[in-house]
Amino acid sequence: MLTESWDTERYQNQHSFVWQYGTALIDLLAPNPGDRILDLGCGTGELTHALAATGATVVGIDADPAMVARAQQQYPQLSFTVADATNFQVEQSVDGVFSNAVLHWVKPPEKAVEAIAHALKPGGKFVAEFGGKGNVQKIIGAVETVREQTSLNPWYFPSIGEYAQLLERQGMEVTFAVLIDRPTPLNEGDRGLANWLKMFGGGLLAGLTPDEAETVLRGVETLLRDQLYDGHQWIADYRRLRLVALKQA
Ligand code: BEZ
Repeated sequence: MLTESWDTERYQNQHSFVWQYGTALIDLLAPNPGDRILDLGCGTGELTHALAATGATVVGIDADPAMVARAQQQYPQLSFTVADATNFQVEQSVDGVFSNAVLHWVKPPEKAVEAIAHALKPGGKFVAEFGGKGNVQKIIGAVETVREQTSLNPWYFPSIGEYAQLLERQGMEVTFAVLIDRPTPLNEGDRGLANWLKMFGGGLLAGLTPDEAETVLRGVETLLRDQLYDGHQWIADYRRLRLVALKQA
C-alpha cells in the first residue's frame, strides 16, 4: 500500500473533496446501529466519524502514520490504527468494510481483496469507491506526452469485470457496480492541476528534479488547458468504480 507520508493539512484544506464525495457511499453501506465497521484507508478520519454517527462501531485503518495521528487528534473518541491494506487483520470479524478513494493506490489488489474478505463475517458487506478504468486518463496521457514516455501510470484503475473477478475468487458476490465519469473540480485556480499532480502524482513525476517537474507541469497545463480548464478552475477527468459485494455465507 502507499507508504509515502502525506501533507495532512494540505490534504484536508485543499483536497477535502476526496472525503466529501465519500458521504454518499455511507448510504450504500447503510450500517445498523452496533454494526462493526472497518474504514479501510481512513485518511484524516472524516468518513470514519460520519460512519460512527450512524451508531456503528468503527475502526479506521491507514498505512500512513501521519494520517492516523491526525485522525486520532481530530476524533479522540474513535479508534484508528496504522495498517496496510494488503495484509491487515481484525481481531473480531466485521459486518462491513468501507473504503473511499483508496484502493487505486493498493497493489497487489488481490492481497487487499483477500484481506477484506477475510475480515468480513459471512453475509458481511464490502462497499468501495475508487478510480476505475480510464480514471484521469487525459492527465496521465498528457504527462506521458510531455515526458515522451509511456506506462507511467502508478495506479490501479480496474474495470468492473476485472475487479468483480478478484472479489468472486475470494467468495464475494458483487450485488452492485457502476463505472461513472465524475469530472472533479480542483481547488487553487490556475495552478490546481499542478498542485494536484504534486500532491497525488508523485509516480508520474518520479525521477525529475523540482525544476524539471515544473517544466513538465507547465507543459501538461498547456496541453490540457482547452479540455480541462474552464477559465476559473481545473476539472480532473475522474472516473469512479463504485461497488457493493457480500461475503457469501
Ligand atoms: C482518484 O481519487 O481517482 C485519484 C486520486 C489521486 C490520484 C489518482 C487518482
